[in-house]
Amino acid sequence: MTKLVKYTLQNSYSKKNLVKIPPSYPNEMMVKLFSSTFYSNLIKKKFFKKKNFKILEVGSSSGNNLRYFIDRKFKTYGIEINKDMVNLGIKNLKRMKYRVPEIKIGHNTKIPYQNNFFNCLVSINTLHYSSGNEVNKALEEYKRVLKKGSLVYIETSGPKHFSHKSSKRLGPLKWIRKTKVKDFRNNSHIFGYFSNKKQFQNILENNFSKVEVYERYELSKISLNFFVGICIV
Ligand SMILES: C[S@@+](CC[C@H](N)C(=O)[O-])C[C@H]1O[C@@H](n2cnc3c(N)ncnc32)[C@H](O)[C@@H]1O
Repeated sequence: MTKLVKYTLQNSYSKKNLVKIPPSYPNEMMVKLFSSTFYSNLIKKKFFKKKNFKILEVGSSSGNNLRYFIDRKFKTYGIEINKDMVNLGIKNLKRMKYRVPEIKIGHNTKIPYQNNFFNCLVSINTLHYSSGNEVNKALEEYKRVLKKGSLVYIETSGPKHFSHKSSKRLGPLKWIRKTKVKDFRNNSHIFGYFSNKKQFQNILENNFSKVEVYERYELSKISLNFFVGICIV
């Protein structure tokens, strides 16, 4: 396991940028994909109609995506790397008056659930906290806890994302972040960024039976760029 980045209640959202509450809205691309069969050939209505549909978010942070799953009446679970981050999700969901789901401490490569437990797994901007060979280990761990035929949504920073652009490549799936703005993730944690869409697609295809890969941009003062993978176990 690579050294864990130190996410805390204090640094997990930027109060100096006028952010008064933790991120509280679900990822828009994920909502689009999960709400309609229009955007992907792999998203089928039948996925979400299953009784006891169990969904896990790895890196569930402030519960911003969990709240969408709760609204959809899915059996919702989250994992986070430390107690602080588990508490962030619990506190924020309570603030929004949600019934708090099970959120446990876990890791990309160590998910505290039995084999074949979930029908769906979401990992948004969390896979790249594993690097090198650990990226593959993480995908194997994702598969372990999923039933055959399950749906996986993976999103990770693309090469035009500001944090990726200002990172230095140390080797395959190994990058060190060096953004100009001071950030606790700089110069220590090794990130598993993908160099291009093809590499992302190949690694997903090695692990899942069906894969679709998309790319999206949000261009404001800063450049946000993401790869999105929809996979079937
Ligand atoms: C950029 S945030 C994304 C949060 C949320 N998924 C979202 O889409 O808004 C990354 C989250 O992953 C968690 N994290 C970092 N390393 C992790 C690891 N190795 N395994 C699981 N979660 C991790 C962090 O604590 C943080 O909450």
